[in-house]
Amino acid sequence: MSRVALVTGGTRGIGAAISIALKAAGYRVVANYAGNEEKAKVFAEETGIQVRRWDVSNYQACADGIAEIEAAVGPVEVLVNNAGITRDAMFHKMTPQQWNEVIGTNLTGVFNMTHTVWSGMRDRSFGRVITISSINGQKGQVGQANYSAAKAGDLGFTKALAQEGAAKGITVNAVCPGYIATEMVLAVPEKVLNERIIPQIPVGRLGQPEEIARVVVFLASDEAGFITGSTISANGGQFFV
Ligand code: CAA
Repeated sequence: MSRVALVTGGTRGIGAAISIALKAAGYRVVANYAGNEEKAKVFAEETGIQVRRWDVSNYQACADGIAEIEAAVGPVEVLVNNAGITRDAMFHKMTPQQWNEVIGTNLTGVFNMTHTVWSGMRDRSFGRVITISSINGQKGQVGQANYSAAKAGDLGFTKALAQEGAAKGITVNAVCPGYIATEMVLAVPEKVLNERIIPQIPVGRLGQPEEIARVVVFLASDEAGFITGSTISANGGQFFV
């Protein structure tokens, strides 16, 4: 039977492309989403991918959601932590709420989801945990002290957990997308995007969600078992580590 893959934030943007690519690669995919019921319904109808709603920043909701998936579909063998939000503001204007919301979803959400599937992966001696971090977790970004901190935290989390999972057949990796043509990036003020960001991308364009999805499919494969603790950048040459 094919492996089960769970993609958080898997009905829109990069997450939707990942869900679709994993399905095309033969996985039984479940896409989690937090809020946009209408888009999730259309996504499920168009792709035939099952969708489940819960908020990754809530530990109990993650535990309940995963228990339901494991009973109905099977054990989660591939977890893609993709769900992420922005609350951009210059630091002197950033509120504690903007800080807490971003840390809650983009960092604590990764803990909540991974912690919930981890014991099962250890018991079965197989797992793939792939977390979508960001170029802005690597280099920092004006207006994103909260987001950059969370996404950098995801990289530390990945490196620590990779060492714990290695002897149990579990790989833990991160992907750092650059600026990808999704609603999140297109919400950046047009002037900032055109004058400040796109000129810094040597390939001269935004990335496409499918260009990130292909990296995830590769890391999820059984053949990628020697790659763990890695950060793979896909950013059009905007930043080299
Ligand atoms: N680099 C350097 N300076 C910058 C800058 C940048 N990238 N962006 C803005 N600034 C400067 C502005 O020029 C301005 O300077 P002056 O006051 O000297 O003119 C100052 O910072 C304040 O900028 P704004 O006038 O735009 O201030 P604001 O309060 O209206 O908005 C902001 C601030 C919300 C941060 C807005 O600039 C913004 O949205 N910037 C984009 C942030 C960004 O890149 N977000 C990424 C979202 S996509 C994503 O997160 C996905 C991913 O992983 C890549």
